[in-house]
Amino acid sequence: MNKEELMKASDEARALSYSPYSNFKVGAAILLKDGTIIKGANIENSSYGLCMCAERNTVYRTLLSGYKVEDMLALALCADADELPYPCGACRQVLSELFPLDAPVIVCNTKGKFLETSVRELLPYAFGKDNLK
Ligand code: THU
Repeated sequence: MNKEELMKASDEARALSYSPYSNFKVGAAILLKDGTIIKGANIENSSYGLCMCAERNTVYRTLLSGYKVEDMLALALCADADELPYPCGACRQVLSELFPLDAPVIVCNTKGKFLETSVRELLPYAFGKDNLK
């Protein structure tokens, strides 16, 4: 599994999106150490504040499928937009606890533009469980 294939999986995952309010379909795909790819997408609600982003749905789906944070190798994220769909602040916070900090996070669009980063880069100085001690 290479990065292009993971980006393709995140593009395909956009078909899972339920986004009748924004019409902004975001797909995500997480590659696991055993080669499995878990796909997810954004799910919206008429009570707008309840909308859930693709990244969080996908990381939750991965955990609920029985995998652990340490099993995750890379995450790709895709939208059909000119600009890249950078993860929102809430997703960055959730990923900082539930996705490996230095694993590749590949943000891409359907036009072939992409950026590879990591959660550590996306959310420096993250609040985490150590801050609660
Ligand atoms: N959205 C995501 O799923 N991920 C992002 O990185 C940015 C935003 C979703 C939330 C909402 O359903 C729609 O895109 C418009 O904000």
